[in-house]
Amino acid sequence: MEFVLNGRRVQVENLAPQTTLLDYLRASGLTGSKEGCAEGECGACTVVLVREGPAGTEYRGVNSCLLFLPMLAGQEVYTVEGLAQGGKLAEVQAAMVRHGGSQCGYCTPGFVMSLFAEQYRPDRGAGFDLHALSGNLCRCTGYRPIKDAALSLGPAPDDAFKARLREPAPALGPAVYESEQGRFVRPGSLEECLTFLALHPEAKLVAGGTDAAVESNLRYRRWELLVGLEAIPELRIFEEHADAVEIGAGLSLGELERRWKGAPQAVRDLLPLFASPLIRNSATLGGNLGTASPIGDSPPVLLALDAAVRIAGKDGERVVSLAEFFKAYRQTALGRGEVIVSVRVPKPYPVHSRFYKVAKRRMDDISTVAAGFA
Ligand code: FES
Ligand code: FES
Repeated sequence: MEFVLNGRRVQVENLAPQTTLLDYLRASGLTGSKEGCAEGECGACTVVLVREGPAGTEYRGVNSCLLFLPMLAGQEVYTVEGLAQGGKLAEVQAAMVRHGGSQCGYCTPGFVMSLFAEQYRPDRGAGFDLHALSGNLCRCTGYRPIKDAALSLGPAPDDAFKARLREPAPALGPAVYESEQGRFVRPGSLEECLTFLALHPEAKLVAGGTDAAVESNLRYRRWELLVGLEAIPELRIFEEHADAVEIGAGLSLGELERRWKGAPQAVRDLLPLFASPLIRNSATLGGNLGTASPIGDSPPVLLALDAAVRIAGKDGERVVSLAEFFKAYRQTALGRGEVIVSVRVPKPYPVHSRFYKVAKRRMDDISTVAAGFA
């Protein structure tokens, strides 16, 4: 398996498919990215991927502790070590130094990468969206100097990183990775995926990986076969119809946030409170429904909106209302070898809809109570 790391092609072999990108980086001597939690809550491990966004190629911040290495096949990654060029700090790094944004430094590389992604965001316009930092926690500096560093940043400089954004992002295509410890397969179409799952119904499905990687990192779950859903175009649709909106189950929540312009109020309430921007850049609606976790934030809203899921298997497709989809704690109507293709939200949307979430922190936290109303 090959991917591009800080501008250089690297080859990966003989590593377990559940090795995280973070563990790989640190074992390779790139110890700038840190492990604070291994579950997507601190942002100390933030790196950026080069991805296609609604405004063209962009740097997308993600938690490297939540990415299984084979998911990066053919992809392009930058870590904090890749930013300084010719011995000169990148603007975001220099701004952190100037404003005293770092003390112990444990969180700093993560903040730097989120600052970098936001400074180079193609549709950024003027100003700096401080919510771009809401997936990064600092335990000792205090946020004011970090905020000052962020607000001091002008437009992205016209450098090699800006030039990279004028070229297309790497395509997400089919991939296979195998080692003694297991196998990762990323089908390139729905048909290919269903054919494969009919033969291997025991496979663990992985979309953004933000749930599976936590199970792997903290509970040491191991799967012999992982099937990555990221390269299936049918799972990445976003279609507005007269009677419904149809959302591909594999669209990340970050993409959904930017594409669903006329979303009902409850969805607009929900998305900024759903984990952090770093998680939303990977996590999918299909994943949040498929795991049937009782702390999933999207089900209360989608149930209130009377949504349904389109499910595909080797025997064809069916549409199941979300009210029928959840069977019990972490159990769904999904049969072996089936995948959620899309989520349909009927129109017209309710006149009034809201989402409320009570948690210990306002942003980036697990719900104590979450409620959707329509
Ligand atoms: Fe905390 Fe990755 S180590 S988010
Ligand atoms: Fe110490 Fe942020 S500088 S945790």
